Parts: sequence; structure tokens; C-alpha cells
Amino acid sequence: MSTLRLEDLKQYSDTLRTRHGEALNVRFVEPRDTEELQHYFRSLTTRSRYNRFFGAISELPKGLLSEFLDVGGRERFTVVATKLVDGFETIVAEARYAFHAETATLEFGLSVDDRWQGHGIATALMKNLECRADALGAEHLFGDTLRANDIMISLARKSGFTFVNHPDDWKLVRFDKEISVAPKDIPCASWRLAALSRQAESPSASA
Ligand SMILES: CC(C)(COP(=O)(O)OP(=O)(O)OC[C@H]1O[C@@H](n2cnc3c(N)ncnc32)[C@H](O)[C@@H]1OP(=O)(O)O)[C@@H](O)C(=O)NCCC(=O)NCCS
Repeated sequence: MSTLRLEDLKQYSDTLRTRHGEALNVRFVEPRDTEELQHYFRSLTTRSRYNRFFGAISELPKGLLSEFLDVGGRERFTVVATKLVDGFETIVAEARYAFHAETATLEFGLSVDDRWQGHGIATALMKNLECRADALGAEHLFGDTLRANDIMISLARKSGFTFVNHPDDWKLVRFDKEISVAPKDIPCASWRLAALSRQAESPSASA
């Protein structure tokens, strides 16, 4: 079981930068995001939605929507990257991840609003996920993508992932990376909070 304090989700928020230095807030999704999250998925191009969910959907089906909004249940989490657009906090990217304690791995999938693709958002978000994964105790980060998804494959390669065949589905390829987070960078709030809670559990370790 993770040490996240789910009653206080805001403390796990991070600020990321696009390639041009624009700030994005990355935070766990909240119930108030329900409409905005659906709006985000409806606004993706058909191709982006297909690449994200490996099938044709126009919005999140009810069951999947409630899974997306359930942060921490079965060690699964959704984060959104938001930006102020005309004074409104707007979702420009999302990622869903699952911590598998038995294999010490974190599995993820993500998407970026088509209007914001090519700005380095996925690159920054994947780095952030690596840090969140490390905070949960994962040693590897992996995801699956359609073999035809050249952009995701190129992005994963540039981000240091290696590729293996998917165990069950020939249409998919799995990308995997051993996690290496430099503690001195304290790159995400989850990492800092996990380190503090470990320190509190065994204060002598740092004495
Ligand atoms: C794949 C995806 C997440 C990339 O997001 P992004 O924020 O645009 O990615 P970045 O801007 O960080 O780009 C990183 C790299 O991806 C590749 N890339 C991004 N956009 C590309 C494009 N239009 N054509 C070719 N390569 C592209 C490049 O290698 C790029 O590096 P570079 O800019 O140094 O050349 C985005 O295209 C997306 O949401 N697609 C739909 C959902 C999906 O495919 N999810 C993945 C499966 S779970």
C-alpha cells in the first residue's frame, strides 16, 4: 500500500514547463473536474483518442470515467496538467498510472491536447511520472502503445525507454525504463513527501 495521504491530494501537485517555458500545473484529478475531463477527451482528435485507448470512443464511457476519477483506488491514479486559458483552468494533458507492487513497476498511459502537442508537454509529464513512480517504490516505468503510433514510439525512445513485444497483443509494443531519479533535484512533491515520511518512520537513519 502506498504512503500517499489521499485526503490531501493538493500537496502532490507539481509545476512543469513546456519547451518554451510556460508553466503547467500537474495535479491529481478531483471530482470537480468531471465535466472538464470529459470535455478534454471529446475535444481530442479521433486519432488521438484511438491512440490513447486503442479503440474508437468519442468520450470516456461511464465506467471508465468513474475509474479515472477514483484516485488511489487499487493503486491507480489520474493526473491532469492544467493551464489558465482566458482565466479558466483548462486541462491540456492527462496521464493515468497504476502501481504494481508485486513487480515494483508503474504502468502508465497519457495524452496531450492536440493543440498543445509538440510543446514538450509529454516529455515533461513522463519525467514527472518517473519521479512519482520512484516515490511509490517502483523500479521500472512502462507503457503500451499501438505499433503504428510513431509519435509515441519516437517520444519513448528519446526519453530513454527500450522496447519489448507486448506479452498478449501483437498490435501493441511495450516501452520500459529503469527509473533513475536524482535525489538532489527533488523533482516532484510526491518524492519529497515520501522521503519525509520515511525519515519520520526511522529518524535514526538520518542521524
Ligand atoms: C504521444 C503524445 C503524448 C506526445 O505528446 P507531446 O506533448 O506532443 O510530445 P512532446 O512535445 O514532448 O514531443 C516529444 C517527442 O515526440 C515526438 N513527436 C511529438 N510530436 C510529433 C509529431 N507531430 N511528429 C513526429 N514526432 C513527434 C518527437 O520525437 C518529439 O521530440 P522532438 O520535439 O525533440 O522532436 C501526443 O502526441 C498524444 O497525446 N497523442 C495521442 C495519445 C497517445 O498516442 N498516447 C500514447 C499512448 S498511451
